[in-house]
Amino acid sequence: MHEEPRLPAPEKNAGEAAAFYDRVAWAYDRHFAYPRRITELQTAWLLRLCRRGPLLDLGCGTGRMLEPLAEAGFTPFGLDCSKKMLARARQAHPEADLVRAEAGRGIPFASAAFETVICLHAVLIHITDPEERRGLALEVQRVLRPGGVFVLELPHPRSFPPLTTPDAWRVFRPGILCRQVGPNLEELRLTEMGDLTSRVAVIDVPELKTLLAGFAKAHLHPGFSGGLFDPEKGVAMVVCAYK
Ligand SMILES: C[S@@+](CC[C@H](N)C(=O)[O-])C[C@H]1O[C@@H](n2cnc3c(N)ncnc32)[C@H](O)[C@@H]1O
Repeated sequence: MHEEPRLPAPEKNAGEAAAFYDRVAWAYDRHFAYPRRITELQTAWLLRLCRRGPLLDLGCGTGRMLEPLAEAGFTPFGLDCSKKMLARARQAHPEADLVRAEAGRGIPFASAAFETVICLHAVLIHITDPEERRGLALEVQRVLRPGGVFVLELPHPRSFPPLTTPDAWRVFRPGILCRQVGPNLEELRLTEMGDLTSRVAVIDVPELKTLLAGFAKAHLHPGFSGGLFDPEKGVAMVVCAYK
């Protein structure tokens, strides 16, 4: 089922997310992973929305979704760029089919291989090159079967605190600061992880619409608990895009 990536490999931002998560991996499950109840909520959502069958978890991290998805009747595959996050996933789920790749540079699976592709918990913001984000959207379309679903979760653009003084660090979440370093580009700083930093993209609704233009239809939700999406405020954006 694995195939060579189709896209050329751009030089920009190469390996930045991988290096960052390699350094975070040892503490990820304890300090940064979603709690079990969110995993259950997301699994129930996917069960309602998606056909059972092969499912690709893009940016699977330490693999929190693999077991619940398998128990729910999906056949999960995982992809991540961080060697150390994947090592943890492999240790916890030795049976899982996992592959290391940079998702924005091509998805190393055959066309129409999956009923579902998921990309949960802010994976996409780590792809700071807009060309690579476009590449990812095209590749997701390629690996989905007709009628297949892409479920993408990322921070609401307004969840980044408003700018006060340019360049000033603001509190993004407890233990995480952010500062603007370019248009739609923030730097995150993990204060309890030796001030480790990483650049992330702020992805807005117009960009999402462009990214998903090739899908037959797409719906935007404020999270996995229902309710109406508000472009002006919110914590998360959840997109369900149908091929
Ligand atoms: C916040 S974690 C989320 C992990 C998992 N999706 C979850 O919901 O728990 C982000 C993950 O995305 C991965 N990642 C970031 N950029 C990536 C890329 N370009 N290609 C593949 N994985 C990437 C990181 O290595 C990390 O494991």
